[in-house]
Amino acid sequence: MVQSVVLLLLLGLVPVVLCRAEFVPPTVNISLDEDPEVRWMPLLKIFDIEYLKKAGAEVIDTTVPKWVHHAIIPVVAALEKYVPQPYAGEIRGMASYFGGSISDVIILNFAYEISAFCTSIVAQDKNGHVYHGRNLDYPHDVLRNLTIDIIFLKNGEVAYRGTSFAGYVGLWTGQSPNKFTISGDQRGTEHWWNWWKNVVSAFLLQRSPVSWLVRETLAEAENFQDAVMRLSKIPIITGVYYIVGGVRAGEGVVITRDRAGPADIWPLDPVNGEWFRVETNFDHWRPPPARDHRRDAAKKALNATGQDHINMDTLYQVLSLYPVCNRITVYTTTMSAATPEKYKTLVRPQGCIKTD
Ligand SMILES: *[C@@H]1O[C@H](CO)[C@@H](O)[C@H](O)[C@H]1NC(C)=O
Ligand SMILES: *[C@@H]1O[C@H](CO)[C@@H](O)[C@H](O)[C@H]1NC(C)=O
Ligand SMILES: *[C@@H]1O[C@H](CO)[C@@H](O)[C@H](O)[C@H]1NC(C)=O
Repeated sequence: MVQSVVLLLLLGLVPVVLCRAEFVPPTVNISLDEDPEVRWMPLLKIFDIEYLKKAGAEVIDTTVPKWVHHAIIPVVAALEKYVPQPYAGEIRGMASYFGGSISDVIILNFAYEISAFCTSIVAQDKNGHVYHGRNLDYPHDVLRNLTIDIIFLKNGEVAYRGTSFAGYVGLWTGQSPNKFTISGDQRGTEHWWNWWKNVVSAFLLQRSPVSWLVRETLAEAENFQDAVMRLSKIPIITGVYYIVGGVRAGEGVVITRDRAGPADIWPLDPVNGEWFRVETNFDHWRPPPARDHRRDAAKKALNATGQDHINMDTLYQVLSLYPVCNRITVYTTTMSAATPEKYKTLVRPQGCIKTD
């Protein structure tokens, strides 16, 4: 079955069969030269405020039990002063023009830190070009309409870009042009009581939420090596997988993170035929749970595609194959730091469904 699907894939037929009417999300320019409080105002040109409020409430309600939500509002308000810049200013700004409470915007920003299931792939073709793709899977339909591509500008030039949700200041997917690309995949599952411990440790121990470290790395790292170093070592609030692609042959890696540092670093090894790495939500050296077939499906499809034929389009097709793309897949991004203009995100309005 998979073989024949891959054949169809190579003919470019499968996305139409498996997934309906993907769309390009809106792009928003955010100027880092503006004050953090006002820099997200361009969102108001794209989104209806009432819709944003409703969507935010829905994400919080389905992530955090109601009594916990009520109990933590004053605590979060008291912790606000510990939020570092520029996030503190950005969150305060969004709360003011979206008319929400600062506590809720903070809680919302942390709510996204859990239950993000994902598949990321980094691969290298025979000429040494590196490609990086990711599916972001998240069990909230409403996020499809909140997905945005964000271009962060500094002195009028593109500093870095990424894909995110309106109201969220971190990045799970991004690109530093001509330097490197990053995606983050959740590691393991968290319950809200652990999540809450993470929120507190973020503030009091000054550990970075995983998506803030992605953004900081995009903003500050000089090159692939530097990015890998930062993403491996800087303390974060919870475990995660960081997948990084560079601009030169061999520059591709999956970093398995513990809170304090790296648990494992798994680079491409093209000389020995290891021209791609697939990461879902489980340690690569352990088998995934029996019910989760995403890793194997992606590997089979990449094997069938072959190193001769891997490129942005075939990578997108692999990421469109069920169950790599599934009912809760929100968006797919394909990128290659050496050709930054090809950065592309497509939203999957209904995810992908099984066809056999
Ligand atoms: C965003 O910034 C880029 C780079 O400066 C520019 O080419 C583009 O036209 C801008 N888009 C909007 C919507 O302002
Ligand atoms: C997303 O937006 C579309 C078009 O505006 C709308 O039809 C759809 O109901 C929205 N989906 C959700 C989950 O809000
Ligand atoms: C992919 O190919 C490699 C090398 O030939 C092989 O070891 C591996 O088992 C294959 N994986 C899958 C899932 O087919």
